[in-house]
Amino acid sequence: MLLEVRELYVEFATRDGIARAVNGVSYGVDEGETLAVLGESGSGKSVTAQAVMGILDTPPGRITGGEILFRGRDLLRLKEEERRGIRGAGMAMIFQDALSALNPVVPVGDQLGEMFVVHRGMSRKDARARAVELMDRVRIPAAAQRVRDYPHQFSGGMRQRIMIAMAMALEPALIIADEPTTALDVTVQAQVMDLLAELRRAYRMGLILITHDLGVVADVADRIAVMYAGRIVESAPVHDIYKAPAHPYTRGLLDSVPRLDRKGRELYAIKGLPPNLTHIPPGCPFHPRCPMARDVCRTDVPPLYEVGADRGSACHFWRECLHGPDH
Ligand SMILES: Nc1ncnc2c1ncn2[C@@H]1O[C@H](COP(=O)(O)OP(=O)(O)O)[C@@H](O)[C@H]1O
Ligand code: SF4
Ligand SMILES: [Mg+2]
Repeated sequence: MLLEVRELYVEFATRDGIARAVNGVSYGVDEGETLAVLGESGSGKSVTAQAVMGILDTPPGRITGGEILFRGRDLLRLKEEERRGIRGAGMAMIFQDALSALNPVVPVGDQLGEMFVVHRGMSRKDARARAVELMDRVRIPAAAQRVRDYPHQFSGGMRQRIMIAMAMALEPALIIADEPTTALDVTVQAQVMDLLAELRRAYRMGLILITHDLGVVADVADRIAVMYAGRIVESAPVHDIYKAPAHPYTRGLLDSVPRLDRKGRELYAIKGLPPNLTHIPPGCPFHPRCPMARDVCRTDVPPLYEVGADRGSACHFWRECLHGPDH
């Protein structure tokens, strides 16, 4: 396994008390594999990723348990200096908002080139040439001319390509893309996703794709991990989930995506809101919103049941969810 997160716990000290943002999350991704991490806003997707990257705000954040194994080494036990070495060359992150991730007063070519100067000891001139190559690679038209332009001179889609180029610069083994296309309009979203998928294949990288949009993951992901209230509630190969979800929350997410084969049907919306993480409901945290909830759901926390090969669901009634009411 390239990356393996085991039983990770992260909490934040807030004015309202302790926000339990990540509560025993385990997931993994192999070389050349894409894991999609799915869930509504506030489910702990980004915080988990920040812990993996070593860029969590501490304080107020605190990792209170678990392991993050990268090629078998627990990153939580490394010195900050060693971690910095892994960031960039070993793993890199792509954020939703390229404009705030890029430096507004430095030409994009220099920002890209800086990676090669700092990490590879290249001369400025060679680094500039590599920056043009990279911009070509992510299909920015007229890269040689545009290398001197500033971030604000690019469109949103082109800026996202520059951020992808930045993340790819040192050919890391793992890329974490946190809602990389959320800020873009739909056609540009598809182009950027295609580019990411293509680069992932070409370089055999592991990719963790964080999104709240099930629509984008079907074509690119190998596995899906669904998060709710800081837990993985379902984890499965992507086809299994599309065929039949084993958790009511996953079903709710699926039913709220427009699908061509269900044209004309009214779109479903999961009722209510995700919980406040300072006051996570007892039992199954999804029970206040779950159409299948029963008494036991209000008291007993469901473990991640094994529901098949390589598949888990944290629902007491996963059989019923998967196979129908008589199971
Ligand atoms: N810097 C922070 N300070 C306090 N609480 C935070 C901070 N970052 C995240 N949290 C808490 O963690 C929760 C999960 O956040 P996040 O991982 O960003 O969710 P998402 O699934 O939308 O990416 C938030 O709802 C919030 O309660
Ligand atoms: S454990 Fe109960 S409340 Fe939770 S998802 Fe399953 S049926 Fe719904
Ligand atoms: Mg997020």
